[in-house]
Amino acid sequence: MARARRPIAAGNWKMHLLRAEAEAYCRALADGLGAAPAGSRGPEVVLFPSFPLLPAVVAALAGTGVGAGAQDLHPEPSGAHTGDVSAAQILDAGARFVLAGHSERRRDHGESEELVAAKARAARAAGLVPVACVGETADERRRGETLEVLGRQLAPLPLEPPLVLAYEPVWAIGTGETATPAIAQEAHAHLRAALAERAGAELAAATRILYGGSVTPENAAELAAAPDVDGFLVGGASLDPQRFLAIIHVLGG
Ligand code: 13P
Repeated sequence: MARARRPIAAGNWKMHLLRAEAEAYCRALADGLGAAPAGSRGPEVVLFPSFPLLPAVVAALAGTGVGAGAQDLHPEPSGAHTGDVSAAQILDAGARFVLAGHSERRRDHGESEELVAAKARAARAAGLVPVACVGETADERRRGETLEVLGRQLAPLPLEPPLVLAYEPVWAIGTGETATPAIAQEAHAHLRAALAERAGAELAAATRILYGGSVTPENAAELAAAPDVDGFLVGGASLDPQRFLAIIHVLGG
């Protein structure tokens, strides 16, 4: 069945890899993608290395069709913010995407929903595609608050194109405890319905909603079969180019 939206296979490298490893990875990825069957449009493929790796990754990916993104940004366009990176600097480094509100940033840096929304707005203003991450904790799920939490996290975001959402239940990240396809579909459908209500049917139909949390080549196919799952934001399994390639192939690449 034809997909309603072009899927995205995104690899979030988090705080892993050094430059030589990243360059070798990109060569392996390009080789693997080169062997994909001709004529298949395939998913959009994007790597999210840490800031210092970004220029090397952009250079290594030149001509491959694979995009690059940053893992975070500061909401201000420039200024006295030691250690932070602006959207314009990310764009200038050759990236086209940026994560906003990954749960590890919300946890490690106390990022609020308002700050995440400000980051997503800054990304859009600079011409980057924000990939805004949402998802409930294990406690919130146990208390039956999942859909409410997702609604709260979605509310302040700029609901205009270009926007990509990533549903990443915190309890599934790095735990091996992947959401079932039914759990993912319920969350994604809820997010899409909320998008439709707040921003109209057209945006809701066009917005890619990725699933993230212990995605592997083994579980990717059943998750990808869920109608509102438009691809993946992969952590651990994206660190091995062959495993990431296997996930890309599940999405049609
Ligand atoms: P894992 O795939 O390692 O669970 O990480 C998911 C994630 O946080 C991607 O952003």
